Amino acid sequence: MTGSKSGKTHIIVVGNEKGGSGKSTSAMHIVVSLLERGFRVAIIDLDARQKSLARYIENRAAYAEQYNLKLTMPDVHILERSEGGSTAEMEQQDEENFAALIEGLSGKHDYILIDCPGSDSYLSRQAHISADTLITPLNDSFVDVDLLAKVNPDTYQVEKLSLYSEMVWEARKMRAMKDRGTIDWIVMRNRTSALDAKNKRRVHDVLTQLQKRVAFRYVPGFGERVIYRELFPKGLTLVDFKSGGREKMTMSHVAARQEIRRLMDDLKLPGWEKAAVAAAE
Ligand SMILES: Nc1ncnc2c1ncn2[C@@H]1O[C@H](COP(=O)(O)OP(=O)(O)OP(=O)(O)O)[C@@H](O)[C@H]1O
Ligand SMILES: [Mg+2]
Repeated sequence: MTGSKSGKTHIIVVGNEKGGSGKSTSAMHIVVSLLERGFRVAIIDLDARQKSLARYIENRAAYAEQYNLKLTMPDVHILERSEGGSTAEMEQQDEENFAALIEGLSGKHDYILIDCPGSDSYLSRQAHISADTLITPLNDSFVDVDLLAKVNPDTYQVEKLSLYSEMVWEARKMRAMKDRGTIDWIVMRNRTSALDAKNKRRVHDVLTQLQKRVAFRYVPGFGERVIYRELFPKGLTLVDFKSGGREKMTMSHVAARQEIRRLMDDLKLPGWEKAAVAAAE
């Protein structure tokens, strides 16, 4: 299976400088969705302190072994920040390490998914510049929206862009200079709750305003569901839940699977639709 029509490895970056917005959880569900459709996927965990995505996958391998299951697995890489020397020297080293890793993986995989830490780093910027698709999960709160734009407290109008949007703007410029490439930026909501309809509506309105101004595509994403928190120790995703499998499917799980499927369709990744047709034949 080839990730894009041109056969080029497609780079997906999951990033947001806000910690705990659901980057690693979303990343894992995207990775397993791609693997299930037969794509070859490598992951790079740039959060070398927490290693949440790499650990999620370690748990998956252990669970598969324990119950003698055949679970799809990505190729896992963790890239540490370089240490020692001046800031300029460390940045130079980071840049070289990042480029070497991408070059080594390109061509061998259809997709490379990079999970970024919840704070700014030079490596994370390199990842953003290389992204073909950038996915930013956002919790349903104005604390999260604040990293994209300052919002007027009375009118909820967008006043100016803030840190993260400016960083993506810079990354887009750098990318255009590097290889004339473009970054398809998707902002997805995560942990939306049916309980706080007013806030949900306001966040929706602000993101709708912002998407034109900052040039991202705003998509619904995932609801708040206990199951997302429970899956990590087993290394499973909702994509792995199958009828007759070890895990019991509830109505909430069915709804969650639909959310994931919808997100995957919304991402418009190269080869995604075609792979579905091929699998059905
Ligand atoms: N849709 C959801 N419903 C319920 N819980 C969720 C959902 N998405 C993520 N979580 C939980 O929220 C917490 C943070 O999620 P996650 O680790 O994916 O975020 P992150 O952005 O990668 O964090 P960090 O910035 O620390 O890397 C985890 O405990 C996770 O299980
Ligand atoms: Mg994470």
